[in-house]
Amino acid sequence: MELRKGSIGDLADIERVERESFADAERYDVPLLRLLLGEKEFETVVATVDGAIAGYATLFHKEGCISSRIVSMAVRPHHRRRGIGSSLLRELERLAAEKGAERLVLEVGTINLAAVAMYESVGFRIGGVLPGYYGEGRDAYHMDKSVSRG
Ligand SMILES: CC(C)(COP(=O)(O)OP(=O)(O)OC[C@H]1O[C@@H](n2cnc3c(N)ncnc32)[C@H](O)[C@@H]1OP(=O)(O)O)[C@@H](O)C(=O)NCCC(=O)NCCS
Repeated sequence: MELRKGSIGDLADIERVERESFADAERYDVPLLRLLLGEKEFETVVATVDGAIAGYATLFHKEGCISSRIVSMAVRPHHRRRGIGSSLLRELERLAAEKGAERLVLEVGTINLAAVAMYESVGFRIGGVLPGYYGEGRDAYHMDKSVSRG
């Protein structure tokens, strides 16, 4: 498995990861993914296995801010439970530290037990519940972690 910076040329592959990973109403569509891959405040890292994209994760960081936000991440189903998600998170943390962030924050559905477990496995903690964050009856956890400086 290798990690590299994602670019607009990865759009179709990342869109496939999204389709395989989220319900239609929850996934990022092509215009939004194009924005994540094009705007300078977003940084995407892709994980490849034998040269093909197996997963991706995107960080949002506004210059001068002490918090960076993980805005999206997913791993193709047949590549899960092999450490790819946590490797992507560690790389986003390294990038956040490089940009001067002191905290990493994210939101995740309270019913998304796999993602919550993964975030906890790399040191995130639940900071609170956001009722209805993803719509009626669909709550989220706010999670955060101090950025390690290696
Ligand atoms: C969440 C997700 C990215 C995890 O990716 P992954 O590559 O499987 O994660 P890792 O292999 O690095 O898992 C690291 C640890 O997280 C925990 N974990 C991951 N998936 C888990 C699951 N399904 N059930 C319980 N624990 C899980 C485990 O502690 C795991 O370590 P272990 O395999 O040694 O037990 C992946 O399941 C996914 O793409 N889900 C759909 C999209 C999604 O929910 N994205 C996050 C939105 S906020």
